[in-house]
Amino acid sequence: MKITKVAVIGAGLMGHGIAQVSAQVAGYEVYLKDIKQEFLDKGMGRIKWSLGKLVEKEKISQGDADTVLSRIHPTLDMKEAVGEADLVVEAAPEKLQLKKTLFEAFDEFTPYHAILASNTSSISITEIAKATKRPDKVVGMHFFNPVQIMKLVEIVKGEKTSDETVEVITKVSQQMRKETVLCKRDRPGFIVNRILVPALLDAIRLVEEDVASIEDIDKAIRLGLNWPMGPITLADYVGLDTALNITRVFQEGLDKHRYDPPALLEKMVKEGKLGRKTKQGFLDWSR
Ligand code: 3HC
Repeated sequence: MKITKVAVIGAGLMGHGIAQVSAQVAGYEVYLKDIKQEFLDKGMGRIKWSLGKLVEKEKISQGDADTVLSRIHPTLDMKEAVGEADLVVEAAPEKLQLKKTLFEAFDEFTPYHAILASNTSSISITEIAKATKRPDKVVGMHFFNPVQIMKLVEIVKGEKTSDETVEVITKVSQQMRKETVLCKRDRPGFIVNRILVPALLDAIRLVEEDVASIEDIDKAIRLGLNWPMGPITLADYVGLDTALNITRVFQEGLDKHRYDPPALLEKMVKEGKLGRKTKQGFLDWSR
């Protein structure tokens, strides 16, 4: 199956990067959809910033950057976004009901051959697929932040995802110059977040229990485990709301007590301190 047109749903932290890599690396025609003009503007702004960085470092030319931008079509209209898509990649907020409503719309408006992928970090692909009449073509395609830099795509097979769909997504990921891993069973958090999120929660518990300073917790893991970022910085980087949402999914789908979120995490999310995206989390990101 040949992919030429891709619709990316959600222009946020992940969606803008997925749109950029689809247009820049894979050379696809991309429709980037969000629900408000300001979200589209912000997403396109992030893409321009990223392309600017690549031009500055002479990794691409200004002409290349212009070509990439000309391949990305921001839109508020669902039909325009997905109407001719061969592949839809959904990167909307992590809410099951929202994703089900979106997938229902994709099912209605996309050509029947189209593959419907979700960038969900923890929600069940099998559940999302139930909103469509083509569960064999629904699949998880989980990117990592920043999408432009991180090499991995986790491919997640729902109960009814066909081998052919997995094969196409593997090829698409290669076209984007990503490495893939296959999550054979659709379990909460898949591979990476199943391991990462408990580590982030424990790092937050260390802050809560005042075992060490934030600087020292981060330094310990950077230098002791060679992570590029310490876990508190990383929690801020992925978003504290995202970390909390994933924890809730773990509580429902894995173990209620084991994944009980630290009170400090809940408090910060309640206060709207979500990390880098709101400029304030455990760290100050305003500069
Ligand atoms: N576009 C283009 N270039 C970018 C970029 C972007 N969006 N973001 C960063 N870069 C470039 C920088 O310009 C820089 O280039 P240079 O080395 O040539 O100067 C290079 O990438 C490195 O960036 P920085 O110098 O700013 O900082 P670092 O060296 O610390 O690298 C990082 C940044 C790549 C983010 C690194 O810190 C890192 O790998 N951190 C961990 C990220 C991680 O773990 N991500 C996964 C999170 S989990 C997830 O996403 C799953 C979800 O479901 C929760």
